[in-house]
Amino acid sequence: MKLVIDCDDAAFDFKDAIYAHLKEEGYDITDLKYSSTHECDYPDIAFNLAEKISDGTYDRGILICGTGLGVAMMANKVPGVFAGTCSDCFAAERLAKSNDANVITMGARCIGVELGKMIADAFLKSEFGGGGSTRKVKRMRELETKYCHH
Ligand code: RB5
Repeated sequence: MKLVIDCDDAAFDFKDAIYAHLKEEGYDITDLKYSSTHECDYPDIAFNLAEKISDGTYDRGILICGTGLGVAMMANKVPGVFAGTCSDCFAAERLAKSNDANVITMGARCIGVELGKMIADAFLKSEFGGGGSTRKVKRMRELETKYCHH
């Protein structure tokens, strides 16, 4: 699984800690650091990462800002990207198992770094479970095409 991570100025230390943790766990993870080369805020940072999920360069993404909300809103604008903000491990697991999301977002001003690591682990260790969720996820993808042509 190819992973990608990025953050805005509210979350550099948090992001570095998550990146180091996942690297240590053996994940193939790339830190885009988009704002270090482009003067921009979370809308562009999130959009840039989401495009790289959408085009298949990476399988899953992690986005971190102050609340996790702005980056989720922008990532979800990119067709093929389904992002959710999590501040607990149960939701992080369900985000993959039930919602088949490919991006998780977190808020560096909302949760501690150690919980952030556990949340990232819960998401990455989980896969879509199918079953009763299949119809719902299929419907999300159908409805997405109404405004987003992928
Ligand atoms: C700070 O720019 C803050 O607005 C941002 O990190 C994020 O929380 C937005 O959703």
